[in-house]
Amino acid sequence: MVVASRRRSLCSASSFQQTLLILLGAVLLAFITALIGLYLAISESDDPSHERAAVQRLRRAHSATLHAMERAGRAVKSAVHSTKPPLSSSERVFQSSSKAQAVDAAQVAPSPSPSKLEALGGGRAGIVIVAHDRTDTLARCLDSLLQQPDLSLFRLAVSLDHAPSFDKMEAVVRTSSSRYQVNVWKKPDDPKQKVPVAKIAAHFRFALSQSFEVAKFEFAIFIENDLVLAPDFLWYFRITAPLLEHDPSIWCVSSWNDNGFSEIASDERKLFRTDYFPGLGWMIRNDTWSMLAPLWSSFPSTGWDHWIRHGVPQLRYRDCVAPEVPRSKHVDTKGTNVKAGSGIYKLLEKMAFSKLPNGELHDVSYLLRDRYEPYMQKVLQDAQMAPNLESLRDFVGQSDSNLAQPVANPKEIKGLRPLPPTPGHIFCGA
Ligand SMILES: *[C@@H]1O[C@H](CO)[C@@H](O)[C@H](O)[C@H]1NC(C)=O
Repeated sequence: MVVASRRRSLCSASSFQQTLLILLGAVLLAFITALIGLYLAISESDDPSHERAAVQRLRRAHSATLHAMERAGRAVKSAVHSTKPPLSSSERVFQSSSKAQAVDAAQVAPSPSPSKLEALGGGRAGIVIVAHDRTDTLARCLDSLLQQPDLSLFRLAVSLDHAPSFDKMEAVVRTSSSRYQVNVWKKPDDPKQKVPVAKIAAHFRFALSQSFEVAKFEFAIFIENDLVLAPDFLWYFRITAPLLEHDPSIWCVSSWNDNGFSEIASDERKLFRTDYFPGLGWMIRNDTWSMLAPLWSSFPSTGWDHWIRHGVPQLRYRDCVAPEVPRSKHVDTKGTNVKAGSGIYKLLEKMAFSKLPNGELHDVSYLLRDRYEPYMQKVLQDAQMAPNLESLRDFVGQSDSNLAQPVANPKEIKGLRPLPPTPGHIFCGA
């Protein structure tokens, strides 16, 4: 769980030790062991040789964080317990001053009533499977998509970028889908694109621009072809789509939770906001693509998803919505990033996968900014303060209350989540 806001005001709160850039990240009971940034490793290693380095980096970051948290924990604990906690002032804690610069207060209309947030109707959204050359994973992904109820409310496409595989991939699409029309989009080859990160980024640009500029989808869901989908996958996106329309501080919905390990993620009805882009089955609205399109690099030096997380100022203070229990599952064992038996594979095996029947998730209006912030404030106020990460583990299953775990200053947490350290800002969450 993540508290997704940065607060300049906390830094200057006199009761806090100003020398430390401390924050209160509310780590809900459930999400403790998982400050590992799993997806970081998956997404940033674009060729297999990077995978080991990624896992090692995570390990290093993890242990650095343990030390940092211990120190920050002591400092925050004494600050919180020795004075009237600044948490009691809602203006202060949730004024989100820097966030307001990006999402102007005037833009944040009062929350619409839950009745306005009804599940998205037909004809407004498309689903795009992004595939390369693997017929087996594409067949499995399509199968799991074609079993979804309400499929007829969406337009369907498979986007391909590997010309030598077009025929065999198209054959899979044709045999899988007799009942539904599935369009096949073929990205023209670009010989100038040589490295995998650039090719993948170019393919996503193609799929996004086909979706929003050519097919004119208002909402589009992108699914990597090595995913299979939970029973209410489409419903999940239908019920959350209005959030993208009504709350400009939310720019994406993802079906994935990096911290959704089966040991700790259990509430299939619970969604949360995060300023991290989880990816792996995600949806945006056309207005977000209009903003991203001119910024999309033709020759990126890093993965497109990494760029989206850290390189787009316009997204910096906006959030994604994600489920506690993932709505997608990674099944490929031979892909570029995930090999059977590898460290990442073992982590992925531990992820929870929602079994919630279709249509049971309702009223997600608590995720709207003007309701979510007071909610998170209360979570923080009511939380027990844990002195360090190890002690958090002891609480699992023993306490009903949430635990707040102070997370270290941006510099120390850098390895865990490489946000650029910004003087005077506090980064909450991980
Ligand atoms: C997004 O889609 C809606 C509905 O079709 C349309 O009215 C609007 O102009 C579109 N916005 C952009 C930026 O394309």
